[in-house]
Amino acid sequence: MSDNSHVVITNLSKAYKGRSGTILSLTGISLKVDRHEYVSIVGASGCGKSTLLRIISGLDTDFKGAVTIAGKRIAGAGLGRGIVFQEHRLLPWLTVWENVEFALQKGTAEEHAELIANHLKLVGLAGFEKAYPGQLSGGMAQRVAIARALVNRPEILLLDEPFGALDALTRLKLQQQVLDIWKKEKTTMIMVTHDIEEAVYMGDRVIVMSERPGTIKKEFIIDLPRPRNRSNTEFQLLRQAIYREFHKDCV
Ligand SMILES: Nc1ncnc2c1ncn2[C@@H]1O[C@H](COP(=O)(O)OP(=O)(O)OP(=O)(O)O)[C@@H](O)[C@H]1O
Ligand SMILES: [Mg+2]
Repeated sequence: MSDNSHVVITNLSKAYKGRSGTILSLTGISLKVDRHEYVSIVGASGCGKSTLLRIISGLDTDFKGAVTIAGKRIAGAGLGRGIVFQEHRLLPWLTVWENVEFALQKGTAEEHAELIANHLKLVGLAGFEKAYPGQLSGGMAQRVAIARALVNRPEILLLDEPFGALDALTRLKLQQQVLDIWKKEKTTMIMVTHDIEEAVYMGDRVIVMSERPGTIKKEFIIDLPRPRNRSNTEFQLLRQAIYREFHKDCV
């Protein structure tokens, strides 16, 4: 057992109650994520990945089991956790600058200005402060969303398929940018993705979830030196092993 644990999830289950009955979304999830670890999560559509991230973020507090951050049970959303949703969810009537400013909770106007400028630079968007979301490409909007999630200096960044809607080249560039931020800011990362190659490229560990109700099926440690080479044999073998695990129940 590691004493460097940052996020500890113990026997978590989550049921959604609707008019047509109860849907069990997650069951028996136990997971420990170390400080500054990068964990990737893959699993079939509907297996509860977004639900899991929402619970860790504190946006959903209606669950069974325990979730602690740095030893304390979570009680609602906190500035210590940032979340990037699959769709950027920027406010269309605010500029890039204002969208990031909107997320800021503490500090003086001067401190805000410096923080916003630094974070837009970090995601490669200096010069686009006055643009509106409708004037940005999908990749640029996603980078604003990442800047917005980072601006409160969260210790934990939760990424829900952050590159899902992007073309291959933009995806590769953003993966690199996120890895640079992770290295520089020493953030703890939990990223959901549909892309197994991306999961292996980014993660120290890849968690494979089962179909709904989501459980943890298997964990793969990705002990490959960084920066990683996607065409390296070991990389490909891991990718294939995860792919097989992922599709075992489907064939
Ligand atoms: N607000 C909600 N109300 C009722 N049921 C919900 C709600 N959100 C999710 N669910 C149910 O919980 C299950 C898990 O949903 P979730 O969005 O967490 O899946 P996911 O793994 O993120 O899927 P995807 O890969 O498609 O994004 C779904 O099967 C869905 O039926
Ligand atoms: Mg989802």
